Amino acid sequence: MDISVVILAAGQGTRMKSSLPKILHPLEGKPMVDYALELAAGVSTKPPVLVVGHGADQVRQKVGDRARYAVQEDQLGTAHAVACAQELLKAEKGLVLIFYADMPLLRKETIQKMVALQSKNSGPLTILTVAAEDPHGFGRILRDASGNIQAIVEEACATPEVLSIRELNAGVYCCRADWLWQALKRVKVSPKGEYYLTDLVEIASMDGSSVEALKTEDVSEAIGINNRNHLAEAGSVLRARIKSKWMLNGVSMIQPESVYIDDTVVIGVDTILMPNTYLRGKTSIGKGCEIGPDTIVTDCQVSDNCRIQMSVLEGAELEEGVIMGPFARLRKGARLGRGVHMGNFGEVKNSTLGADSRMGHFSYIGDANIGEGVNIGAGTVTCNFDGVNKNPTIIEDGVFIGSDTMLVAPVKIGRNSKTGAGAVVTKDVPPNTVVVGVPARELKK
Ligand code: UD1
Ligand code: MG
Repeated sequence: MDISVVILAAGQGTRMKSSLPKILHPLEGKPMVDYALELAAGVSTKPPVLVVGHGADQVRQKVGDRARYAVQEDQLGTAHAVACAQELLKAEKGLVLIFYADMPLLRKETIQKMVALQSKNSGPLTILTVAAEDPHGFGRILRDASGNIQAIVEEACATPEVLSIRELNAGVYCCRADWLWQALKRVKVSPKGEYYLTDLVEIASMDGSSVEALKTEDVSEAIGINNRNHLAEAGSVLRARIKSKWMLNGVSMIQPESVYIDDTVVIGVDTILMPNTYLRGKTSIGKGCEIGPDTIVTDCQVSDNCRIQMSVLEGAELEEGVIMGPFARLRKGARLGRGVHMGNFGEVKNSTLGADSRMGHFSYIGDANIGEGVNIGAGTVTCNFDGVNKNPTIIEDGVFIGSDTMLVAPVKIGRNSKTGAGAVVTKDVPPNTVVVGVPARELKK
């Protein structure tokens, strides 16, 4: 089946009170619009048409070629918005699926079911309805005595009797393309001055065609984001779904309510997430890890069997079996090799620590390349900044850096060398050499 997707996103989103277009607001690690784009990809291989208006430039910049764009200059209503996509889609036959970019909780399975239902429908249109006690300002579904759908009545236009109806329009439509473009021409302007997409239902029904409805059991699916309360509400529903998915996939959480996992994160089996753990952005966690408590991991690759306690990591890579924390910090470009141990109050930035190196206490390592089996004594500092430039430090395999050593970069410490406690190293140290003092000099026996 050939399916084209139209996503409406031209509205202003005034109630967000924000300089950022509504659909670019972040939700569990990605902009709201990404959920809509991923939904579209679940039913069609063609890029969806995003109908943009307010904040169009910002939206285009963020979404790029993941969508085709139709511009709606004036927001004359949802039917008008869909009509703006006609130019792009007029050659595409088959079905058109229409939904809003501000419904991040809609499930892929639901729209797939709608497509399946419409494929079998003798009539031109299938809609998504939801039964809910709180009508939320949604359009009401009007059915005749035999249960056939006759119309959707917007709340603003409804009589008290219609207002009491609890079957609501979720705002997702699947219809035949050829029918859609003709029917849109028949939509009349509403008393509020807008062209309502919901009028398509009455148009089909007046023609004697059947309008099908898929009823979703899950009220949350129909939540549209209009203000920041809705955004927070959607966030907690999404988080619960994300955590449930990972728990069913073999990840343990000691206190799931205190764990935060972005939708962009991947986690291996038998990993345990302790309370107050945040996994954010493009992060992957391997198998058998223990993360937390009180840990924030953003955009990191963590391999199997790592243990990270009370630490903050960003843009870092950890090989297998790294043990970190408590109170350690990794910044962008930190790479810890297999079996590295990093203890309390250490910071590593743009540096590599080779396999089995140890850095137990109170150290700063920046712009350094450290080999394997190196011991970094307590209080070691790579003095990488001379006030103008950042300079590199190289420490080769097997080096022992004594406590409180200052490594004044650029500097290189050769293989198996040692520095004495309190040494201030200002010159390169050859291999197999011991240096001590301020400035550090070779210690000869
Ligand atoms: C709409 C439905 C209502 C349904 C509800 C579910 C209509 C007339 N009503 O109401 O039956 O219960 O959704 O959430 O469709 N948009 C444009 N251009 C426009 C107007 C809107 O792109 O000219 C976009 C908005 O950005 C938004 C979406 O369409 O994403 C929905 O518009 P909105 O005004 O929020 O419609 P509702 O009042 O929520
Ligand atoms: Mg709305």
